[in-house]
Amino acid sequence: MKIIFYFACFTIAFAQDFKTIFTAFVGSNWNDQEWFYSDIYGGIFGFCENEQLFGGHYVFGKNSLASRQFILPPHYYVKIQLRFWKIDSWDGEVFQLIADQKVYSRQFWPNEGGDFCGRGKKGNNDLLVNIEVSIEHNSQLFALIMTSNLDEHAYYVQVVFRQQESWGINWFELSILECFLGCLSCEDSTSSCLIWSSLASYWQTQMSDDGWLTNGGQIGGSNICGGLLIVGGTSILMQGQSLEKTLKDLPIHYLIKFVFKIWAIGEWEYEKLELQVDNQVWMSESIQNNNPVPFDCGIKQKVSIVNTHTINNHTQNEMNIVIKSNQSSQKPAFWVIQSLDIYIAECSIGCQECFGTEPTMCTKCIKKWGFYQNQCIIAPPIECANVRIVQFKDQNINNPDTFQITIDEVNQNSIDKGQQKLFVSSSISTLTFKFW
Ligand SMILES: *[C@@H]1O[C@H](CO)[C@@H](O)[C@H](O)[C@H]1NC(C)=O
Ligand SMILES: *[C@@H]1O[C@H](CO)[C@@H](O)[C@H](O)[C@H]1NC(C)=O
Repeated sequence: MKIIFYFACFTIAFAQDFKTIFTAFVGSNWNDQEWFYSDIYGGIFGFCENEQLFGGHYVFGKNSLASRQFILPPHYYVKIQLRFWKIDSWDGEVFQLIADQKVYSRQFWPNEGGDFCGRGKKGNNDLLVNIEVSIEHNSQLFALIMTSNLDEHAYYVQVVFRQQESWGINWFELSILECFLGCLSCEDSTSSCLIWSSLASYWQTQMSDDGWLTNGGQIGGSNICGGLLIVGGTSILMQGQSLEKTLKDLPIHYLIKFVFKIWAIGEWEYEKLELQVDNQVWMSESIQNNNPVPFDCGIKQKVSIVNTHTINNHTQNEMNIVIKSNQSSQKPAFWVIQSLDIYIAECSIGCQECFGTEPTMCTKCIKKWGFYQNQCIIAPPIECANVRIVQFKDQNINNPDTFQITIDEVNQNSIDKGQQKLFVSSSISTLTFKFW
């Protein structure tokens, strides 16, 4: 009994961490507005075994594709769950679900499952599969693309031996592990992500080139790939080309983080994509595109999504960014940076050089500021520090003439009345007076 009890507790604690962000095609939630779908053969919702489906028999078949892009709150893990129905006589064809960088694919056969819907003769079995995909993920955008390489009809045709093949989904749920409250970007649940503020964000909501140059010219346009809009891509940004931009007037900082989502389109066989900042390599990814099912992306081709991030020391107030791709063969291959977020960890106010965002992590103050108790504070110019002391009579003190001035920086104590001159080294930028 005890063991079962503890196990149940553990499961609940874990399950509570995931936050459901989105559900669809379950209960009364059958809104397909934000979904893209193409090459469908009937009304968008079908049935199997009394369950309604997005797609289904006579609906999603040869060439059908359904996709959607999600904009997610700050998170470090994504989980999607859905029920997939294989309907009728799939003979070795593959269902492919791209969940950003993770790809679920499975081959199906005619006799798998039972007769729940569809054509309903021998060799036309239907199978329900619960699919769950979990990935480490921190891009704000999450792409979901579902398709298959079915090659026969989704609907009944009056030809003997002509088979039917279709598919559908329902009970879709997307959940995330959220960042620590207040963070914009994170790799885990701790509060260490509070250092990041947003420096720049490209291509997620607006599709302009934002001043990025590709081999000296502007990026020549956008594409629809798997139903989703992307800048660059087929015939626009080829393997071998690069993107470049210089950012100026950065706030004073000590760390920079890049979060990328790159789409590799066509034939990629371990060619490199490299991020160079100020001529130093910050990230280098070998890209391989071996997804089994090609789909319409300008033309019909294979697509892989790569999510990656890199954190580096950086302090200069300018940053030259080059994203290079490397071409090894003449096979058609293209790429896209679907989103790029740049985050910056700034020094505290008044700090010129630091190793952390806390005021005590500053190693040098900006001009006219100075250290006081390990923190930078505004230093009034000493020549202006004309201090006038007005003595108030305090009833609680027996001797009304008692007073004392201490000056911290020069370790000086004064109890004398009258005018006094004090010479201090010019290297001392601050004087702190304390009065008793
Ligand atoms: C930044 O530099 C410090 C000191 O050289 C080093 O310990 C740290 O690992 C570096 N951080 C990154 C992200 O490169
Ligand atoms: C690809 O890049 C690597 C390192 O960046 C380089 O060594 C190699 O020669 C490049 N290959 C081609 C075909 O340019």
